[in-house]
Amino acid sequence: MAKTTFSCSACGASHSRWSGRCDACGEWNTITQDVPLSAGPAKKSLGGKRGQSITLTDLSTEETPPPRTLCGVEELDRVLGGGLVPASALLVGGDPGIGKSTLLLQAAARFSRAGVKTIYVSGEEASAQVRMRARRLGLEDAPVQLAAETNLRNILTTLEAEKPGLAIIDSIQTMWADNVDSAPGSVSQVRAAAHELTTFAKRHGVSIIMVGHVTKEGQIAGPRVVEHMVDTVLYFEGERGHQFRILRAVKNRFGPADEIGVFEMTGKGLAQVTNPSALFLSERGAPSPGSAVFAGIEGTRPVLVELQALVAPSPHSQPRRTVVGWDSGRLAMILAVLEARCGVPFAGLDVYLNVAGGLKVSEPAADLAVAAALLSAREDTALPADTVVFGEISLSGALRPAPQTENRLKEAQKLGFKSAIAPAGGKTGTVAGLTLTRPSDLVGFVGETFGAG
Ligand code: TYD
Ligand code: MG
Repeated sequence: MAKTTFSCSACGASHSRWSGRCDACGEWNTITQDVPLSAGPAKKSLGGKRGQSITLTDLSTEETPPPRTLCGVEELDRVLGGGLVPASALLVGGDPGIGKSTLLLQAAARFSRAGVKTIYVSGEEASAQVRMRARRLGLEDAPVQLAAETNLRNILTTLEAEKPGLAIIDSIQTMWADNVDSAPGSVSQVRAAAHELTTFAKRHGVSIIMVGHVTKEGQIAGPRVVEHMVDTVLYFEGERGHQFRILRAVKNRFGPADEIGVFEMTGKGLAQVTNPSALFLSERGAPSPGSAVFAGIEGTRPVLVELQALVAPSPHSQPRRTVVGWDSGRLAMILAVLEARCGVPFAGLDVYLNVAGGLKVSEPAADLAVAAALLSAREDTALPADTVVFGEISLSGALRPAPQTENRLKEAQKLGFKSAIAPAGGKTGTVAGLTLTRPSDLVGFVGETFGAG
């Protein structure tokens, strides 16, 4: 049971017993019993002890927006929401070996050259290894300060003394807080380290970028709460065999989420790709069955990608459904709609779907392009050359227009496409030199594109 406390409403002095007169200020009848701050079991609640009251402001209070620093790599600055925000905490997740350390070392060099004092702390590699990588990337003369350390107390002490503008912690799973008993990389260590670093960033005005490893399921290893703590979560994605890498903002308190930056892994580190559509389509050969070009939107920018499908008689009693770069549930839905509304069965057939170039597409607008690739593979008929496809398919078989139709068409036209298939409705504007086919439902689309189906 928490002790009952009393306080004087005139001077605020606290007393253990009630009395008629406050012996601190001499006022009469000012002593009242303190009500607990919170309800709940006495031991577990905040009890009666008061804290300090905080200053409140209104919504119209003017505050100058924090000055952001641009690093000069457009693809990175855009994903950050227009540069690095001071005193922010960021988490960069990705598979091992995908290029996180490379990206952040290059970013560190850029920011340090842009005048931000930058410290790079590696918990995984020795300083000599990081230096070797810097030399390979041609960054050895960048004014970045290095340390190889995992002890969080030592790191925070150093950051406090050095007062950098940006600190990079590679990686959060190697950090070790000595007040937590468990081993580095465990849930409680990761949570403690992320919490300490995030609050340190806010209190000392340092931007902190933490690297986080990703589990097999594709999530940052450690508790989900880490993603809630930080201001910005970026994922670095890509197929190890491909040279393309995509940096995707999945959460950003200072900019749009879903923005992507596209990079290419070269012998001299990561190079930005300013025209991703051209890159994603560069490996495309002559029109062939099972291929459809989807005009997508990633973040604020249109991106064209090739979808590839393969449909083959299945030797298994349970036909295979394999998807790379798209949602497998969504594929099952499209197959069901094609079967139920258009009478195109896929029973007894293995279905493979692949997004070329290692991009992950999550837009529902890819539905129609997926359907086009599947039908084209099944019918063994190539789609008309130089055609882009997009639009959402509903369960009824109706087609819904996709947002930003005009931007998609403009991008297609810019890359030399001659025609587009997009649902009726939706603002198209005038895009010169592009022939539009506008089916209103899936049955109409199948009829128009593949004859009677
Ligand atoms: P790295 O940044 O160490 O990955 P992570 O920190 O995410 O584990 O990158 C590792 C891969 O990148 C490695 O397989 C080699 C390749 N790489 C290049 O192709 N070119 C380069 O210039 C560098 C530095 C790395
Ligand atoms: Mg690394």
